[in-house]
Amino acid sequence: MSRIAILVSGPSRGSNMQAIIEACRDGRIPDSAVVAVVGARDDAPALQKAHALSVPTAVVNPREFPDPDMYGDALLWVLQKAQPDLICLAGYMRLLPAQVVQAYPMRIMNIHPALLPLFGGKGMYGLKVHQAAIDSGMKITGCTVHFVDEGYDTGPIILQRCAPILDDDTPETLAARVLPVEHETYIEAIRLFVQGKLRVEGRRVRVVG
Ligand code: GAR
Repeated sequence: MSRIAILVSGPSRGSNMQAIIEACRDGRIPDSAVVAVVGARDDAPALQKAHALSVPTAVVNPREFPDPDMYGDALLWVLQKAQPDLICLAGYMRLLPAQVVQAYPMRIMNIHPALLPLFGGKGMYGLKVHQAAIDSGMKITGCTVHFVDEGYDTGPIILQRCAPILDDDTPETLAARVLPVEHETYIEAIRLFVQGKLRVEGRRVRVVG
Protein backbone atom coordinates (compact mmCIF):
# COMPACT_ATOMS: atom_id res chain seq x y z
CA MET A 1 0.00 0.00 0.00
CA SER A 2 1.31 3.48 -0.87
CA ARG A 3 1.29 5.94 2.00
CA ILE A 4 0.51 9.54 1.04
CA ALA A 5 1.07 12.60 3.24
CA ILE A 6 -0.52 15.92 2.29
CA LEU A 7 0.85 19.35 3.17
CA VAL A 8 -1.45 22.37 3.28
CA SER A 9 -1.00 26.03 4.23
CA GLY A 10 -2.96 28.11 6.75
CA PRO A 11 -5.72 29.46 4.49
CA SER A 12 -6.02 26.35 2.31
CA ARG A 13 -9.64 25.19 1.79
CA GLY A 14 -8.54 21.62 1.27
CA SER A 15 -10.48 20.80 -1.91
CA ASN A 16 -7.48 19.13 -3.59
CA MET A 17 -6.74 17.37 -0.30
CA GLN A 18 -10.30 16.08 -0.10
CA ALA A 19 -10.25 14.94 -3.74
CA ILE A 20 -7.07 12.91 -3.08
CA ILE A 21 -8.46 11.34 0.11
CA GLU A 22 -11.69 10.34 -1.67
CA ALA A 23 -9.84 8.98 -4.73
CA CYS A 24 -7.72 6.75 -2.44
CA ARG A 25 -10.83 5.51 -0.68
CA ASP A 26 -12.84 4.70 -3.82
CA GLY A 27 -9.93 3.08 -5.66
CA ARG A 28 -9.32 5.68 -8.40
CA ILE A 29 -5.88 5.92 -6.78
CA PRO A 30 -5.29 2.19 -6.25
CA ASP A 31 -3.87 0.55 -3.15
CA SER A 32 -3.13 3.87 -1.42
CA ALA A 33 -4.16 5.83 1.65
CA VAL A 34 -3.67 9.36 2.93
CA VAL A 35 -1.94 8.69 6.25
CA ALA A 36 -1.40 12.28 7.41
CA VAL A 37 -2.35 15.87 6.63
CA VAL A 38 0.12 18.44 7.93
CA GLY A 39 -0.87 22.09 8.18
CA ALA A 40 0.37 25.33 9.67
CA ARG A 41 -2.55 26.17 11.99
CA ASP A 42 -4.95 23.88 13.78
CA ASP A 43 -7.91 26.12 12.88
CA ALA A 44 -7.10 25.87 9.15
CA PRO A 45 -10.17 24.88 7.11
CA ALA A 46 -8.25 22.06 5.39
CA LEU A 47 -7.21 20.53 8.71
CA GLN A 48 -10.77 20.66 10.00
CA LYS A 49 -11.92 18.92 6.83
CA ALA A 50 -9.20 16.25 7.22
CA HIS A 51 -10.29 15.70 10.80
CA ALA A 52 -13.93 15.30 9.67
CA LEU A 53 -12.73 12.71 7.14
CA SER A 54 -10.94 10.81 9.96
CA VAL A 55 -7.45 11.40 8.56
CA PRO A 56 -4.72 11.99 11.17
CA THR A 57 -3.56 15.62 11.23
CA ALA A 58 -0.51 17.42 12.56
CA VAL A 59 0.38 21.09 12.88
CA VAL A 60 3.82 22.60 12.27
CA ASN A 61 3.51 26.37 12.39
CA PRO A 62 6.47 28.15 10.73
CA ARG A 63 5.83 31.23 12.87
CA GLU A 64 6.63 29.25 16.01
CA PHE A 65 10.25 28.67 14.96
CA PRO A 66 13.01 31.27 15.26
CA ASP A 67 14.43 30.46 11.82
CA PRO A 68 13.36 28.63 8.64
CA ASP A 69 15.92 25.89 9.19
CA MET A 70 14.34 24.86 12.48
CA TYR A 71 10.91 24.89 10.84
CA GLY A 72 12.32 22.61 8.14
CA ASP A 73 13.72 20.18 10.72
CA ALA A 74 10.41 20.05 12.60
CA LEU A 75 8.41 19.54 9.41
CA LEU A 76 10.77 16.77 8.30
CA TRP A 77 10.48 15.05 11.67
CA VAL A 78 6.67 15.09 11.54
CA LEU A 79 6.65 13.83 7.95
CA GLN A 80 9.12 11.04 8.67
CA LYS A 81 6.89 9.77 11.46
CA ALA A 82 4.14 9.23 8.84
CA GLN A 83 6.56 7.20 6.64
CA PRO A 84 5.15 8.51 3.37
CA ASP A 85 5.94 7.05 -0.04
CA LEU A 86 4.66 10.28 -1.59
CA ILE A 87 4.10 13.80 -0.25
CA CYS A 88 1.50 15.98 -2.00
CA LEU A 89 1.41 19.74 -1.58
CA ALA A 90 -2.20 20.90 -1.85
CA GLY A 91 -2.46 24.65 -1.48
CA TYR A 92 0.94 24.85 0.26
CA MET A 93 1.91 28.49 -0.37
CA ARG A 94 5.51 28.70 0.84
CA LEU A 95 8.86 27.39 -0.32
CA LEU A 96 9.26 23.84 0.98
CA PRO A 97 12.36 23.69 3.25
CA ALA A 98 15.39 22.25 1.47
CA GLN A 99 15.91 19.43 3.97
CA VAL A 100 12.41 18.10 3.19
CA VAL A 101 13.00 18.30 -0.58
CA GLN A 102 16.36 16.51 -0.19
CA ALA A 103 14.86 13.75 1.99
CA TYR A 104 12.23 12.87 -0.65
CA PRO A 105 13.74 13.42 -4.12
CA MET A 106 11.08 13.08 -6.85
CA ARG A 107 8.64 11.90 -4.20
CA ILE A 108 7.00 15.28 -3.56
CA MET A 109 4.35 16.68 -5.92
CA ASN A 110 2.68 20.09 -6.13
CA ILE A 111 -0.41 21.34 -7.95
CA HIS A 112 -0.25 24.83 -9.46
CA PRO A 113 -3.30 26.58 -10.99
CA ALA A 114 -1.64 27.61 -14.28
CA LEU A 115 0.39 26.17 -17.12
CA LEU A 116 3.91 26.38 -15.72
CA PRO A 117 6.42 27.85 -16.38
CA LEU A 118 3.85 30.65 -16.90
CA PHE A 119 2.44 32.47 -13.88
CA GLY A 120 4.48 30.66 -11.25
CA GLY A 121 7.19 31.64 -8.79
CA LYS A 122 7.38 33.37 -5.44
CA GLY A 123 4.12 35.03 -4.38
CA MET A 124 2.15 33.45 -7.23
CA TYR A 125 -0.64 31.49 -5.66
CA GLY A 126 -4.43 31.34 -5.62
CA LEU A 127 -6.34 34.20 -7.28
CA LYS A 128 -3.15 36.14 -8.13
CA VAL A 129 -2.27 33.38 -10.59
CA HIS A 130 -5.66 33.61 -12.30
CA GLN A 131 -5.50 37.43 -12.39
CA ALA A 132 -2.10 37.21 -14.13
CA ALA A 133 -3.44 34.69 -16.64
CA ILE A 134 -6.40 37.00 -17.48
CA ASP A 135 -4.13 40.09 -17.69
CA SER A 136 -1.81 38.29 -20.11
CA GLY A 137 -4.58 38.15 -22.72
CA MET A 138 -4.10 34.41 -23.18
CA LYS A 139 -7.12 32.41 -24.27
CA ILE A 140 -6.22 29.27 -22.35
CA THR A 141 -4.85 28.48 -18.94
CA GLY A 142 -4.94 25.28 -16.90
CA CYS A 143 -3.07 23.50 -14.16
CA THR A 144 0.24 21.75 -13.66
CA VAL A 145 1.25 18.87 -11.42
CA HIS A 146 5.02 18.77 -10.99
CA PHE A 147 7.67 17.21 -8.81
CA VAL A 148 9.03 19.62 -6.21
CA ASP A 149 12.64 20.75 -6.28
CA GLU A 150 14.25 23.50 -4.23
CA GLY A 151 12.79 26.36 -6.31
CA TYR A 152 9.34 27.93 -6.56
CA ASP A 153 7.26 25.92 -9.07
CA THR A 154 10.38 24.83 -10.99
CA GLY A 155 10.47 21.03 -10.70
CA PRO A 156 9.90 18.52 -13.55
CA ILE A 157 6.36 18.69 -14.96
CA ILE A 158 4.30 15.50 -14.65
CA LEU A 159 0.92 16.46 -16.17
CA GLN A 160 -0.81 19.58 -17.49
CA ARG A 161 -4.44 20.12 -18.44
CA CYS A 162 -6.07 23.13 -20.08
CA ALA A 163 -9.14 25.27 -19.43
CA PRO A 164 -10.41 28.20 -21.55
CA ILE A 165 -10.18 31.84 -20.43
CA LEU A 166 -13.45 33.56 -21.38
CA ASP A 167 -13.85 37.25 -22.24
CA ASP A 168 -15.82 38.13 -19.11
CA ASP A 169 -13.79 36.01 -16.68
CA THR A 170 -12.83 37.33 -13.27
CA PRO A 171 -10.13 35.58 -11.20
CA GLU A 172 -12.94 33.97 -9.24
CA THR A 173 -14.84 32.58 -12.25
CA LEU A 174 -11.60 31.33 -13.80
CA ALA A 175 -10.50 29.69 -10.52
CA ALA A 176 -13.88 27.94 -10.31
CA ARG A 177 -13.39 26.56 -13.85
CA VAL A 178 -9.82 25.39 -13.23
CA LEU A 179 -10.38 23.82 -9.78
CA PRO A 180 -12.22 20.64 -10.92
CA VAL A 181 -9.56 20.22 -13.61
CA GLU A 182 -6.94 20.43 -10.83
CA HIS A 183 -8.65 17.66 -8.88
CA GLU A 184 -8.76 15.31 -11.88
CA THR A 185 -5.19 16.07 -12.92
CA TYR A 186 -3.77 15.61 -9.42
CA ILE A 187 -5.56 12.28 -8.99
CA GLU A 188 -4.25 11.09 -12.37
CA ALA A 189 -0.65 12.09 -11.54
CA ILE A 190 -0.78 10.33 -8.16
CA ARG A 191 -2.28 7.23 -9.76
CA LEU A 192 0.59 7.10 -12.27
CA PHE A 193 3.11 7.55 -9.43
CA VAL A 194 1.74 4.75 -7.23
CA GLN A 195 1.53 2.45 -10.25
CA GLY A 196 5.24 3.08 -10.87
CA LYS A 197 4.57 4.59 -14.30
CA LEU A 198 6.55 7.85 -13.98
CA ARG A 199 10.16 8.08 -15.16
CA VAL A 200 12.09 11.29 -14.55
CA GLU A 201 14.72 12.02 -17.18
CA GLY A 202 16.27 15.40 -16.42
CA ARG A 203 13.52 18.00 -16.79
CA ARG A 204 11.16 15.57 -18.52
CA VAL A 205 8.80 13.13 -16.89
CA ARG A 206 7.75 10.21 -19.06
CA VAL A 207 4.68 8.08 -18.53
CA VAL A 208 5.65 4.46 -19.22
CA GLY A 209 3.62 1.28 -19.68
C1 GAR B 1 -5.42 25.45 -5.59
O1 GAR B 1 -6.00 26.16 -6.64
C2 GAR B 1 -3.95 25.20 -5.86
O2 GAR B 1 -3.67 24.97 -7.21
C3 GAR B 1 -3.35 26.49 -5.40
O3 GAR B 1 -4.03 26.80 -4.21
C4 GAR B 1 -5.36 26.29 -4.33
C5 GAR B 1 -5.66 25.49 -3.11
O4 GAR B 1 -7.02 25.13 -3.13
N1 GAR B 1 -1.93 26.38 -5.19
C6 GAR B 1 -1.07 27.32 -5.51
O5 GAR B 1 -1.41 28.39 -5.97
C7 GAR B 1 0.38 26.95 -5.24
N2 GAR B 1 1.25 27.89 -5.86
P1 GAR B 1 -7.57 23.95 -2.27
O6 GAR B 1 -7.14 24.23 -0.84
O7 GAR B 1 -9.06 24.02 -2.44
O8 GAR B 1 -6.98 22.67 -2.78
